[in-house]
Amino acid sequence: MEGLLLKGDCLQVLKDIDNNIADLIIVDPPYGVLTNGKVVKKGNYEIDDYFEWDMLEDLQQFTTEWFEKLYNKAKEDSFIYIFWSQKYMRMGYEIFNPDRVIFWHYKNLTLGGNGDFSYDYDPIFVVKKGNPKLSKGKHSSILQFTKPQSN
Ligand SMILES: C[S@@+](CC[C@H](N)C(=O)[O-])C[C@H]1O[C@@H](n2cnc3c(N)ncnc32)[C@H](O)[C@@H]1O
Repeated sequence: MEGLLLKGDCLQVLKDIDNNIADLIIVDPPYGVLTNGKVVKKGNYEIDDYFEWDMLEDLQQFTTEWFEKLYNKAKEDSFIYIFWSQKYMRMGYEIFNPDRVIFWHYKNLTLGGNGDFSYDYDPIFVVKKGNPKLSKGKHSSILQFTKPQSN
């Protein structure tokens, strides 16, 4: 089986990919939560340099643009999974109009406190193009995973 890795700005790269060819799409896009205009020192990095790709002028416009292009690449009756943030849940609903939401629950690396609930889950939006089906058996919509830690 051969693979092909395309590297570049997704808005450009997606133009070169035929429509209706993907059996499955999984996206882990920028979701605008890694910086808050603050420069935080972390190891050898200042965090807003390290996560420069997450500092978008207009998250909604960028996300709408890539999603429209990407949706056309999916075959009929296929799933699209999009990792997203709890913080911009409403924006995600508006843009992706998901059929289901999977909750990725993690117990480490949680932000929060200060009188508010912790951010200890993130949504994974499930968009069904057509009427795709999971394999037989039960599939929980709550995933328990440890969030990867950066060094
Ligand atoms: C949430 S991270 C995903 C990280 C990935 N799952 C990994 O383990 O490396 C979002 C990624 O989108 C990339 N990115 C940001 N803007 C992009 C664009 N316009 N086109 C393609 N990739 C982009 C960033 O470089 C970053 O690696």
